[in-house]
Amino acid sequence: MADLKSNVFGIDFPNPVMPAAGPNVKSSRLMIEAAATGSGAVVSKTFSVVPASDPRPTMKKTVAGGLLNCETWLEDSYENFITELQNVKAESEIPLIVSIGYSAEDVAFLGRLLEKEIQPDAIEFSTHYTGSDIQPLLAVAESLKSSVNVPVLMKLSPGFPQLEELAQEAEPFVDGFVAVNSFGPALDFNPVKAAPSLGSDWGQGWLSGPPLLPIALGIVCRLAGIVSKPIIGVGGITCGTDAVKFLMAGASLVQLCTTAIHEGPSAYGRIAAEISDWLDDNGYSSIDDIKNLYLNNIENRRQ
Ligand SMILES: Cc1cc2nc3c(=O)[nH]c(=O)nc-3n(C[C@H](O)[C@H](O)[C@H](O)COP(=O)(O)O)c2cc1C
Repeated sequence: MADLKSNVFGIDFPNPVMPAAGPNVKSSRLMIEAAATGSGAVVSKTFSVVPASDPRPTMKKTVAGGLLNCETWLEDSYENFITELQNVKAESEIPLIVSIGYSAEDVAFLGRLLEKEIQPDAIEFSTHYTGSDIQPLLAVAESLKSSVNVPVLMKLSPGFPQLEELAQEAEPFVDGFVAVNSFGPALDFNPVKAAPSLGSDWGQGWLSGPPLLPIALGIVCRLAGIVSKPIIGVGGITCGTDAVKFLMAGASLVQLCTTAIHEGPSAYGRIAAEISDWLDDNGYSSIDDIKNLYLNNIENRRQ
C-alpha cells in the first residue's frame, strides 16, 4: 500500500486529505467525526470576534454538482467555539488547523487566545470579505504572524483581482497558502418561481464543488510556480483522482468542503483511500512520487 504520510509546515500528516472550512466543520461533533473516519487533519469553520448572522437560505445546489452559498463565518460566539475546539483537541490525535478572520486586530486577538487555550498545530486566516486591496491583507498576515508561534496559512479567494501578486507579497509573512475559497458572486435560480434561491442580496452566492475544480487547479499550479511556501489545494475535489491532480499541480495537501457537505465526514477517509489505490494502480509508492509532477513537466516544456 502506498505511503500517504508527509511532513508539511513542520507538521506530520498521516494522509494529505482534510476538511476545508465550512458547515462540515462547524461543531466539535463534526470535527471529531472527521478525525475518526480517516481525515489527515482537522480544520475548523472560520470564526471571528463578532458572530456572523447569515441570510436564509444559505445554500442551494446548482449545475454540474456545484453549490451556491451565502454562508459567511461562524454564527456562534468565539468563547463557545473555543470550548468546542478544546473538545476536538482532547478527542483527536491528528493535526488541528483553526480558521479565523478578519481584521488585523481580530486575528492578533484570536491567534493569541488560541495559542493559550488550544495550542492548534496551525492557524489559517480567511481573506474573504476583506476587500480587493493587497496592503490591508498584508497587514492582517503580518499581525497574525507576529502574534503567534504556530504556522500561519493564508486562504486565498479565487476572485481576488491580483491573486499572484498578493501571494508573492504575503509570502514573507506566512508559512503557506490555502487555495482556493469559493468563487463569486454567482447566480442561479428556479425559472418557474423566477425568485431568489438564496437569502442574500440579489440572491447571489459563492460557487463551490466540481465546477470550481479547473479554476482552483489552475490557480494552485500558477501559485506553485511562483511561491516556495507549501500550498493546500482546495476546490471541487470529489474523489482520489481529483486530489492526485492537485498534488501533481503543486499542492502539498488537499481540503474539501462541498463533497463533505453532501456525503458527511466519511468523505475525507474515502478520498484518502482512493489516493492510495490510485498510487498503487499507477505504480507509485508514495505521495512524494507524484507531488509537482505536472508542474515539473510544464516547467520543462517552458524552458
Ligand atoms: C457553505 C459553505 C461555507 C463555507 N465557509 C467557509 C468559511 O467559513 N471559511 C472559509 O475559509 N471558507 C469557507 N468556505 C469555502 C470552502 O472552505 C472551500 O474553500 C470552497 O468551498 C471550495 O472547496 P469545495 O469545492 O471542496 O467546497 C465555505 C464553503 C461553503 C460551500
